[in-house]
Amino acid sequence: MAVLEARDLRNLREVRVELVPGLNVFVGRNAQGKTSLLEIVALLSRARSFRTGDTATLVRRGTERLRAWGRGGVEGRETTLEVEIGAAGRKLRVDGQDVGVGAFTGRLDVVVYSTERLRIVSGPMKERRQFLDRGAAALWPSYRQLLRETERVVRQRNAALDRRGRDLEAWDERLVEVGAGLRHRRALYVERLRAALRTGLKAAAGESYDVLLTRQAAPLGESEERDLLRAEIAARRGAELRVRRSLVGPQRDAVSLTVAGEDASTGASSGQARSLLLALTLATLQVYGAERGHAAVALLDDLDSELDQERAAAVCRFVVERGQALVTTAHEPWARSLREMGRVFEVCDGRVRAAA
Ligand SMILES: Nc1ncnc2c1ncn2[C@@H]1O[C@H](COP(=O)(O)OP(=O)(O)OP(=O)(O)O)[C@@H](O)[C@H]1O
Ligand SMILES: [Mg+2]
Repeated sequence: MAVLEARDLRNLREVRVELVPGLNVFVGRNAQGKTSLLEIVALLSRARSFRTGDTATLVRRGTERLRAWGRGGVEGRETTLEVEIGAAGRKLRVDGQDVGVGAFTGRLDVVVYSTERLRIVSGPMKERRQFLDRGAAALWPSYRQLLRETERVVRQRNAALDRRGRDLEAWDERLVEVGAGLRHRRALYVERLRAALRTGLKAAAGESYDVLLTRQAAPLGESEERDLLRAEIAARRGAELRVRRSLVGPQRDAVSLTVAGEDASTGASSGQARSLLLALTLATLQVYGAERGHAAVALLDDLDSELDQERAAAVCRFVVERGQALVTTAHEPWARSLREMGRVFEVCDGRVRAAA
């Protein structure tokens, strides 16, 4: 993105920011609007925020609606993206034309590191699956389709299980079909991420990070996946009929994140959890760049809050070598030390200006 604007987004009344293609650092004390600035980009990317599922809470208190606007080269073409959220709902525009959410999202890809996302490490399994599924869906449109189709098939199959319908076998076969496809591609994505974790920015001293599908060690071919899922379904038939819902399939598979070989969802310290999340963020960025041939925008919130500043600076260098980044920090001296790498902005009481 080259230019960002927002009106009435949280405490941002009216801001306009001219970004550089590399590193953009936003510095300010607590509660000045730094994370809100990153939310502008998240809105332009996905029409929602990484902080909340309820985008109405982003509208500045006492006002009717918010507007987020951005202009920049998206996949080699100059594009403007706009989001308006108000009581009447949400409006999305690309180059001034109203579009639906399907046509809006996927134009500007972002990768986000923020404390809210620590749920990926320590929250329920669903968060980890979603982390993989969103990353892979951003790379491969076919993945997004398979994901939607699997969700639909599982819903229908649950309904068939519930009424013990005669169509259950047909839904078994549909689940085998789409579920095996999704498992196959998910495993491929995990292999890419793992390779990026090994070759990317060196881990903090003595640490190593990994992401594993606990179901199996290595990816299987699609037809092997189908046989496996068919066998799992047969084995759990009785239990599924008892509880009247699907108990097998990619929607239930476990994903494990580890630090130095230990499961991070229970064992990681808060510093380790953050380092792991950061490593995953950078790996996602790397895989995206390699696969799509252009970079996703990195949004790194409070990057130096639990990371030593030298390492945080190394992260900035790593990211700007690969594309554009927006980084926030509450630490003025650290922000100043990054000046030669890009542009520094001061954020104060909902206003932004380039640092002198
Ligand atoms: N809907 C809203 N209307 C008005 N103000 C809001 C709204 N939502 C949040 N705020 C306020 O906006 C301010 C900026 O929040 P933001 O999270 O962007 O700050 P920050 O600079 O990232 O702070 P920190 O360093 O603590 O992370 C806060 O004071 C918050 O209370
Ligand atoms: Mg913040």
